[in-house]
Amino acid sequence: MNQATTPVVESSLADPTPCLRTQIGKLNLSNPVMTASGTCGYADEYADFAPLSQLGAFVTKSISRHPRKGNESYRVVETRAGMLNAIGLANIGLDRFVNEKVPRLAAMNVPAIVNVPGWSIEDYVDVAAYLDEHVPVVRGIELNVSCPNVKNGLSFGTDPVRLAELVGAVRKRVQRTVLIVKLSPNVADVAVTAQAAVDAGADALSLVNTFTAMAIDIETQKPVLANETGGLSGPAIKPIAMFMVNRVYRQVAAKHHIPIIAMGGIQTWQDAAEFILAGASAVAVGTALFINPAVHIDICNGLSAYMTRKGVSRIADLAGRCGTPATLN
Ligand SMILES: Cc1cc2nc3c(=O)[nH]c(=O)nc-3n(C[C@H](O)[C@H](O)[C@H](O)COP(=O)(O)O)c2cc1C
Repeated sequence: MNQATTPVVESSLADPTPCLRTQIGKLNLSNPVMTASGTCGYADEYADFAPLSQLGAFVTKSISRHPRKGNESYRVVETRAGMLNAIGLANIGLDRFVNEKVPRLAAMNVPAIVNVPGWSIEDYVDVAAYLDEHVPVVRGIELNVSCPNVKNGLSFGTDPVRLAELVGAVRKRVQRTVLIVKLSPNVADVAVTAQAAVDAGADALSLVNTFTAMAIDIETQKPVLANETGGLSGPAIKPIAMFMVNRVYRQVAAKHHIPIIAMGGIQTWQDAAEFILAGASAVAVGTALFINPAVHIDICNGLSAYMTRKGVSRIADLAGRCGTPATLN
């Protein structure tokens, strides 16, 4: 193995190398860097480009009960500091995922977290309960609550009452895997939905999903995306995501000892360190994987060197070290 590119994950008295291990509920990860859902398929598509076993965890594309074709193209457009996507949750569906992809994930030696979307509470419960039977390959369920509810068209993630109902229903059926709720940033106060998810039984929170946005082609004078609107990701959203992670940490997560998985524009180890200081126990990388699929290795090495420089032996000791504006308290 190449020492220069191997992230360090253990420490002992004899070895002062910083320890990158982190805990997401009952899930113990060798390091805090994960993939963000939807940016690298179901793992095997991505395995040729990066050593997956050096990820803390692999988070899959959203898997729905039935296969979905997704939206018409254009489904992705580059923006000045990120990208807009409106994939429409295209995926192979639960049965094919379990039959074809779970066995391949099992061979990859990386904990898998499966992202679950839904358009009714029953959708989420059925898929999550079925996946909960696939331990030890599936170690976590991440609920994507940014999907519109068929009953009223509003996303579960924007309504704390509906969100609590959803998380409570899934919680009853998810016992073996870690239950993570992925929060939408498209709300007035993300601490309100975070609190609802925690009160209803979430083991961990992940944030943020993409910000609703659009781009217009001035020649056709029409929206670029066939879906008209899409989700903005990448460096453009990083400072807003940072604020939201810190707010959720201070208002909700710290006092309930709920770990946060942070994402939104992470490209470098410095970005990851910022999110950890803001309150995250782990980070996920999405858009940056399109530039460097193996960026998690650089991030782990950079975090390790930073911890040595700062005299910090455990990554958990960095989480939430940053203060917060008095107005947030
Ligand atoms: C092309 C693309 C597809 C995505 N698909 C999903 C998805 O299926 N489910 C989900 O919860 N989030 C999805 N996301 C959101 C990411 O997981 C992540 O929350 C967001 O992109 C912010 O992280 P980033 O700035 O590092 O990309 C997608 C993002 C992109 C760019």
